[in-house]
This record gives sequence, structure tokens and C-alpha cells, in this order.
Amino acid sequence: MSKTIVVYYSVQGHVKKIAEKIAELKGADLFAIEAKQPYTEADLNYMDEGSRATREFNNPELRDIELVSTEVPGWADYDTVILCYPIWWAIAAWGTNSFVKAVDWNGKKVLPVAISHSSPAGESGYLLEDDANGGEWSEAVRLYQDATDDEIQGAL
Ligand SMILES: Cc1cc2nc3c(=O)[nH]c(=O)nc-3n(C[C@H](O)[C@H](O)[C@H](O)COP(=O)(O)O)c2cc1C
Repeated sequence: MSKTIVVYYSVQGHVKKIAEKIAELKGADLFAIEAKQPYTEADLNYMDEGSRATREFNNPELRDIELVSTEVPGWADYDTVILCYPIWWAIAAWGTNSFVKAVDWNGKKVLPVAISHSSPAGESGYLLEDDANGGEWSEAVRLYQDATDDEIQGAL
């Protein structure tokens, strides 16, 4: 029997809500990617050249985010992964990449779900796939950060 998990990275809460809805709709389990050093509001101020997020964006060497855990209980048993993440400057918020690099994707079907205020999924799904060691990645789906339940259901 096919087994699905929704893995999500949510810094400000929008992705979490959507991921929980997707898990409910699909009867899937959930796993949260969490940064060891959480972002403060000041860290996320993209208008500030000196903020943590802006500095990380401008310097890829700073984008390796230490995560609380990459040990997903029962990971080997899942054949489908729905990977939900926020868009930052038109790409996946890079904590997502840190997770993608840490786990084994072989034998998994992956659906990337990009969540944003207004940007499309763009290249975000392909860039995550590039960081994965395998898996069968579908084209990313994009959802508005405050998507309704109907919009979520319609997109998946
Ligand atoms: C640092 C930063 C950069 C962002 N860049 C974009 C962007 O390029 N395009 C966009 O549509 N939204 C952008 N957003 C908005 C987020 O993608 C959107 O609010 C998302 O739902 C956040 O998910 P979260 O609340 O789960 O962290 C940005 C937000 C932050 C904090």
C-alpha cells in the first residue's frame, strides 16, 4: 500500500497551515523541518541589507542551515513525499535544501509545493531536485500563502 508523508518547512506559519490541510486531505503523516537557530522577525526583514535572511540570500555559503532533526520516523516506508516550503526571493527558503541534502530520496515520488505571497514556483522545485540524491520529482505546484481549503484541494 502506498504511504505518503507531508514534509514542510514553515518559518512564519503559513506553510504549516497548508501542510496540515494537505496531510488531512491525503491521510498522510507530517514532519516539520526546523532550523536549530530560529529566525526572528528582524532576521526576516528583507528590506534590511544586514538582516540574517538577506545576508544568507546574498551569500550561498551562509545557506547551510543546521536543522533540529533530519531523522524522519519510518522514512524508508514512505513512497510519496509532498514537500512544502516558502518561497524566499523566488527560490525555496534554504532550510528546505538542507533537509533535501540530508535524506535518501531513492525510490520516492516527490511533489514539491511552493508557497508564496505572489511569486510562482519558478525554478524552486528543480533546484531542490538538484540537491537530492535521487527520487522521481514532479513539477512543483504553487499555492498562495493564504490559500483556501478549496484551492488546496484543487491544486493537488
Ligand atoms: C525573507 C523572505 C523573502 C520572501 N520572498 C518572497 C518572494 O520572492 N516572493 C513571494 O511571493 N513571497 C516572498 N516571501 C513571502 C513568503 O513566501 C510567504 O509569506 C510564505 O507563505 C511564508 O511561509 P511561512 O509563513 O510558512 O514561513 C518572502 C518572505 C520572506 C520572509
